[in-house]
Amino acid sequence: MVSTAPETTHALCRADAIGEGQARGFPRTPGARQKVIVLRKGGRLHGWLDSCPHYAGGTPMAWKTDRYLNGEGTHLACHSHGAQFDMETGDCVVGPCLGQRLTRVRLETGADGMVRLAED
Ligand code: FES
Repeated sequence: MVSTAPETTHALCRADAIGEGQARGFPRTPGARQKVIVLRKGGRLHGWLDSCPHYAGGTPMAWKTDRYLNGEGTHLACHSHGAQFDMETGDCVVGPCLGQRLTRVRLETGADGMVRLAED
């Protein structure tokens, strides 16, 4: 979706920096420790909090910078205890948090090609 979001909103990344089947993490706000995972699946960008639902409070999921996918690149993975999540719905499909899901964050792509968190 292309919008006219104000350019003063925190930009996460360039839309074209996320290729099909890729996932990367970006600070939710400038300098924040908590990250937002931006991935492209089926040609669409999806945003998820980097916060595994296995434990209250959430756990960062990557074992290394931007290592958010399983070995086959088919699912988001939490490397603490092996949970795997559907890349488009955020549903846990394997692991200790079946029945739970990741928290979606809405993204907007501006006319400048930058991806930002959507204003609520
Ligand atoms: S903290 Fe993610 S699977 Fe346990």
